[in-house]
This record gives sequence, C-alpha cells and structure tokens, in this order.
Amino acid sequence: MKKVQQHYDEIADIYDDRYDGNRGRYYHGHISDHVMSVLPRGGFLLDIGCGTGLFVERYIEEGGRAVGLDISPGMVRHGRQRCPESGFFVGTAEVLPFRDAAFDALASLLAFSYVPDPEAMLRECYRVLKPGGRIAVCTLSRTVFTSLVPVIYQVGEKVGLKKVGVGDFGEHYYTNGEIAGLFREAGFEGVSVSRCSFAHLNLADPVFALARKVEPFVEENLPYLAYNVCAGGKKPEG
Ligand SMILES: C[S@@+](CC[C@H](N)C(=O)[O-])C[C@H]1O[C@@H](n2cnc3c(N)ncnc32)[C@H](O)[C@@H]1O
Repeated sequence: MKKVQQHYDEIADIYDDRYDGNRGRYYHGHISDHVMSVLPRGGFLLDIGCGTGLFVERYIEEGGRAVGLDISPGMVRHGRQRCPESGFFVGTAEVLPFRDAAFDALASLLAFSYVPDPEAMLRECYRVLKPGGRIAVCTLSRTVFTSLVPVIYQVGEKVGLKKVGVGDFGEHYYTNGEIAGLFREAGFEGVSVSRCSFAHLNLADPVFALARKVEPFVEENLPYLAYNVCAGGKKPEG
C-alpha cells in the first residue's frame, strides 16, 4: 500500500495533465457519467480514492455536496486546490474516518483495483452510508486487453517509466461476477453491473477516434470488450 501511495505522491503534479486534453476529458467524463447514473443527485457524497478531486467537482456541479478521501497526501493537496470548499482527507479505503450513516452516496473511480482488502472497504462503505444510500464503484475490469496491463506496467517500472499508474502494484481487475458478489456479500441490494469505456485514453490518436465512434455499440452489444466495470448498489432502507 505504501508503494501505491508513494507512486501517487510522485505523479500528483502531473496527474491532471492526463485529463486536461480532449481525450482525457472525454474518458473521465464518460466514466463519471456511468457513476452518476447510479447515484442520487443533490446528496452528500464521499469519493474514495478521490485523487485530485475530479469526481468531487463533478458531483458538486450536479448540485450535491462532496468530500474526498485518498491515501496519497500529494493527490489530496491537489483536490483541496480544485475544490477549496470541500473536505479532503488522507486515509485508506479500508478504515474510513467517518461516523456511521454519514453519507447519501459513495463513489470510487479507478481506485478499487488497488485496494488490498476490498471486503473491508465495502464493509466500511456500508457502515458510513445512510439506509437507502447508494454506492457506485468504477474500476478496470478483466478483459482480453486489460489482462496484459499489469505485465506492461511491471516492465514500465523496470525501465523507469514515470507515468500515471505505471508500476507493479499487485492490482486486481474484476469480472462482473466478482464485483457483484463482493457488493452482495457486503449487504448491498439491487446490485447492478455494467461495462464502460472502449475508447481508452492510452490508445493512439486514430485508434482512439475509431474506438470512441464504436463505443456505444460495444458497451451495448460486446460489453466484455469494454475496459471498465461499474458496479452499483443500495443500502437497504433499514
Ligand atoms: C487512478 S487514481 C484515480 C483518482 C480519481 N478517483 C480519479 O478518478 O481521477 C487512483 C487513486 O486511488 C488512490 N488509492 C489507491 N489505493 C488506495 C487506498 N487503499 N485507499 C485510498 N485511496 C487509494 C491513489 O492514491 C490514487 O489517487
């Protein structure tokens, strides 16, 4: 875990460059759309693994209030700059420093695959959600494409590549069944799982343009080719 934290501290100052261009904005916006479609608008949200606060900002733009938590102090610093009115906390997903039933909504984007104990994280999510509150987790899924990513990232670390996410972190990429099972075991009901993102921002320009065109078709008809899995659920009303 220390290694993940160090990595994100090291790349915190360049993280937003990744999402500044058209492709990055589109990619992150698309994931955020999927996450928003599962969550109530206008509530109080906790974003776990919030990074530089991209989704905290989005949730506020949609009329809600939001706070973020991240293991990397460097990323949290950028979150505070992006959304000075929101609270940003340094901490780990498995031990949330919040009281029971504090939030209407929980989100986690592109961070779940790093969490060594996902059961503990989801137990904590359940605890801090109000009855009837909703959770959405979007993370890299296991596909024919992403099964190679950890190997590529391990090689990247060996040759000293300083790029967002590049390193040997023992990430786990989830199948639909795995993530749905974890949500149900944690006690969430109405569990939904969808796939999103065929146009990954790491693709070369012309391939990205093509992938973006066919993305709606892939998500609808060939979902197992999409890069991310987005799981949603609700804490029972009590
Ligand atoms: C790829 S970034 C995603 C950041 C942000 N959610 C976004 O969508 O831009 C992954 C983030 O997860 C954080 N992270 C990794 N493991 C974590 C853990 N166990 N607890 C909290 N945050 C964690 C990292 O520090 C990093 O900021």
